[in-house]
Amino acid sequence: MSIDDIKCKIGTLAGDLVQNGMTVGLGTGTTAFYFIKRLMERCQEGLEIQAVASSTASLKQAHDGGIPMIDIENVASIDLTVDSADEIDRQKQMIKGGGGALLREKIVATMSKEMIVIVDETKLSEKLGRSKLPVEIVPFAHHYTKSSLEKLGYSGEFRRTAQGLLFMTDNGNLILDLKLDPASTNPREDHVRIREIPGVVETGFFFDLAQRVIIGYKDGKVQIRD
Ligand code: 5RP
Repeated sequence: MSIDDIKCKIGTLAGDLVQNGMTVGLGTGTTAFYFIKRLMERCQEGLEIQAVASSTASLKQAHDGGIPMIDIENVASIDLTVDSADEIDRQKQMIKGGGGALLREKIVATMSKEMIVIVDETKLSEKLGRSKLPVEIVPFAHHYTKSSLEKLGYSGEFRRTAQGLLFMTDNGNLILDLKLDPASTNPREDHVRIREIPGVVETGFFFDLAQRVIIGYKDGKVQIRD
């Protein structure tokens, strides 16, 4: 099975778990795309839900596809959020933000009674740190913020668009992709140290947010970790 077929399979499966009356949080990325696609189909078949998006890209897909979207400012809590991850370990701790939406994704996940994470097997990790750690940083004095992080031993590059421009998040911030070394990465400590630097808005470490994990394997099998 191709990775894209796996993403379609687990996204569709997660879409089938949504129930009438729910307020649903929509993740961001190529896996969440299939979850949103399935919800679009189910809404056309009569499913009654309302949804909030974690990015303008997901908002556009869902809105264009006929999912009733509501302003997050009018939401007290979300019943279920479905999103993917760049890396997830056995304790369901994650690195997210490959799509640059980590801040809104974390807020939406935090507002949710349940978060289901859908990943293909390539995202599974024994120890977080294989992928780069996206960190959202305000544009003001971003070079200084970067050098402050370097002094603490965290180095990386600002994310750029295909045209070579600085990538800008939906919040008007930048993403610094930090290179980690799994051997020396201590996610909780690193998260706190990085967050202490003024100018850092949020890191892509997600702790204690994922409840259920749906894993899709290349041989077509699907595993659910509760
Ligand atoms: C976006 C994210 C995504 O969930 C993560 O990057 C995985 O993306 P994909 O489903 O495209 O592999 O955190 O900010």
